[in-house]
Amino acid sequence: MASKRGALIVLEGVDRAGKTTQCKKLVQALLQSGLPAEMMRFPDRSTTIGQLISAYLEKKSELEDHTVHLLFSANRWELVPVMKKKLEQGITLVVDRYAFSGVAFTSAKPGFSLDWCMKPDTGLPQPDLVMFLQLNPDEAALRGQFGAERYETSAFQKAVQEKFEQLMKDQTVNWKVGRSFALIHCGDGTKAIIYPTGLLF
Ligand code: TMP
Repeated sequence: MASKRGALIVLEGVDRAGKTTQCKKLVQALLQSGLPAEMMRFPDRSTTIGQLISAYLEKKSELEDHTVHLLFSANRWELVPVMKKKLEQGITLVVDRYAFSGVAFTSAKPGFSLDWCMKPDTGLPQPDLVMFLQLNPDEAALRGQFGAERYETSAFQKAVQEKFEQLMKDQTVNWKVGRSFALIHCGDGTKAIIYPTGLLF
């Protein structure tokens, strides 16, 4: 019997919003409910492209802004065959950042339109659900290690937050916004419903 396709679930938010913690909790909850699930993250720093991105983020190298945008996108595209295979095997993928981060972070830089930023990611697998972890950038700045990597300044994170808010107006994307997320119902074991908890705006 062919297994049901897994769901593609993305978590987005400003830096230090707690996405990684929420992704891990979600994968754990899905597994406990009997649904095969795995976590992925972008950038995936383990590939050759990912290592170039990582050095840039750690401020060990400089890259021209368009170039690094295209590298982030290429890093997603190089993982598409793996993602498709897992989804076809019925594995739900919980992904820490995706193309929305790509667009929000680059378009927060001067001289970049949303439109230009979105082009290289056109055609990527569409997420079934995008959860936006809402955290005020000032609150995020108080969290551990803020400032260690490129982009971790309060002013830039506020600009990124505004770009995310623009992206969330796209009704073709299934956005859910909250401070955390919970799994409430797993029906007959083939379906999971995730709902946002905490403050919504
Ligand atoms: P992270 O590994 O802690 O999630 O950080 C990755 C950083 O890279 C974060 O500041 C967001 C940024 N980023 C982009 O600028 N473009 C992208 O496409 C992605 C996925 C992340």
